[in-house]
Amino acid sequence: MVLVIDFTPPKNPTQKYTTIQLVLLAFAVILFSSVPLYFFTNTSSSPPWLSFTSNLIGTINFGNNCNMFRGKWVYYPNGASYTNVTCSEIFDHQNCMKFGRPDSEFLKWRWKPKQCELPLFDAVQFLELVRGKSMAFVGDSLGRNHMESLLCLLASAVYPEDIVSNKTDSRFKIWIYLNYNFTLASFWSPYLVKATETEPNGPTYNRLINLYLDETNSDWAAEIQRFDYVIISAGRWFFGPQIFYENGQIVGCHLCQRNGIKNFTMFYGYRKAFGTAFRTLLNLKNYRGITFLRTLSPAHFENGEWNKGGECKRTGPVSKLEMKLDGADLELYETQVEELKAAEREGKVKGLKFRLLDITEAMVVRPDGHPNHYGHRADENGTIADCVHWCLPGPIDTWNAFLLHMLKKIHGK
Ligand SMILES: *[C@@H]1O[C@H](CO)[C@@H](O)[C@H](O)[C@H]1NC(C)=O
Ligand SMILES: *[C@@H]1O[C@H](CO)[C@@H](O)[C@H](O)[C@H]1NC(C)=O
Ligand SMILES: *[C@@H]1O[C@H](CO)[C@@H](O)[C@H](O)[C@H]1NC(C)=O
Ligand SMILES: *[C@@H]1O[C@H](CO)[C@@H](O)[C@H](O)[C@H]1NC(C)=O
Ligand SMILES: *[C@@H]1O[C@H](CO)[C@@H](O)[C@H](O)[C@H]1NC(C)=O
Repeated sequence: MVLVIDFTPPKNPTQKYTTIQLVLLAFAVILFSSVPLYFFTNTSSSPPWLSFTSNLIGTINFGNNCNMFRGKWVYYPNGASYTNVTCSEIFDHQNCMKFGRPDSEFLKWRWKPKQCELPLFDAVQFLELVRGKSMAFVGDSLGRNHMESLLCLLASAVYPEDIVSNKTDSRFKIWIYLNYNFTLASFWSPYLVKATETEPNGPTYNRLINLYLDETNSDWAAEIQRFDYVIISAGRWFFGPQIFYENGQIVGCHLCQRNGIKNFTMFYGYRKAFGTAFRTLLNLKNYRGITFLRTLSPAHFENGEWNKGGECKRTGPVSKLEMKLDGADLELYETQVEELKAAEREGKVKGLKFRLLDITEAMVVRPDGHPNHYGHRADENGTIADCVHWCLPGPIDTWNAFLLHMLKKIHGK
């Protein structure tokens, strides 16, 4: 699995260089005129590679419109705002302290955007903003990881009632914060689109999946209309073997090794899946919610792949030079951002908001934030390290500081 990630421009597409040149030119023009800068610095529209043009942009004060997703981790000795005692909902797989993680320095960092401050998460402020509203996380176990981080951060103020959840099926959860009439839900849908197994009794890993790229997964789509905020994500599951269907017909496959089926890349399926998910939201008659794309969460296997002894035993952030987004992760990231931009444009016409919750750059340099060998129950195979999910508490809590900041901006607070 590729862990190196880079926010520099991709090597080939000349069109993208042209975009950068145009943006730089625009900045140059603006610097010598008095057009307000925020026009160009909306966090939801600046391309990822802008962060590396820092020599020019670094001199500009963006004020309240700074891009909070570009910055660095700074030491913060106070550490996390919760523990596995104040938050009893931590899933064992992410309860690193319970399973013996010996170091805690990884908790003592906070994200510092280049041109502004990202306030620490404030549970009461969050709950006041979402009073009477509902929020849903749609995606894989990382979506749930994100939701549990939110639950733990909010636990300092209030604990929700688990009134609707199916205790035996943690893939679908609905919580309600009675005092705030706030509903929090998570929907399991790792591919976003309709998926079926080709051999339900086959091995867990590397199971061949039928993906219906133009049909949304009704597990979430049938319920989503009533939600005010929808946080969509998808990632690792697309690395596996899949047969792609469109209009009910096989169009190709990824790693399926079947005769007569055209080989496609996983990026093909990934793009279509996001396109279909966003289109579903755009076309739902009664959906008035704000949609967030939570961008790719990087994995950090070192010294081997995930099933070949790979691990992640670092204890602090690394420099941007040491770990960068590249390879498949960069392409997945760019693919999903492009689809979000397309939905954002279409949403404008229909009065629906689409926003980028761009956690990738911050997380690329946090190989220390994963459970590694400290996320497994005793009865599980401890030889496989988890360098995909994130410890709670941990750097993933910053995703909710971002989310709160975005909600404040959306509601003009
Ligand atoms: C919390 O973490 C401590 C180690 O810091 C561990 O001993 C304890 O079992 C954990 N408790 C729970 C409820 O997870
Ligand atoms: C709670 O919020 C929902 C919308 O999410 C609304 O329909 C309902 O009337 C609210 N209930 C109360 C008691 O305020
Ligand atoms: C809870 O989930 C299990 C497993 O998915 C399912 O068999 C059961 O019918 C569900 N129960 C309810 C009340 O939804
Ligand atoms: C698809 O790729 C596999 C291995 O990557 C190869 O064995 C197979 O022949 C390819 N199939 C086609 C139709 O090109
Ligand atoms: C644990 O996983 C490793 C790596 O996949 C495998 O070689 C080993 O046989 C597994 N052990 C058990 C007890 O399942």
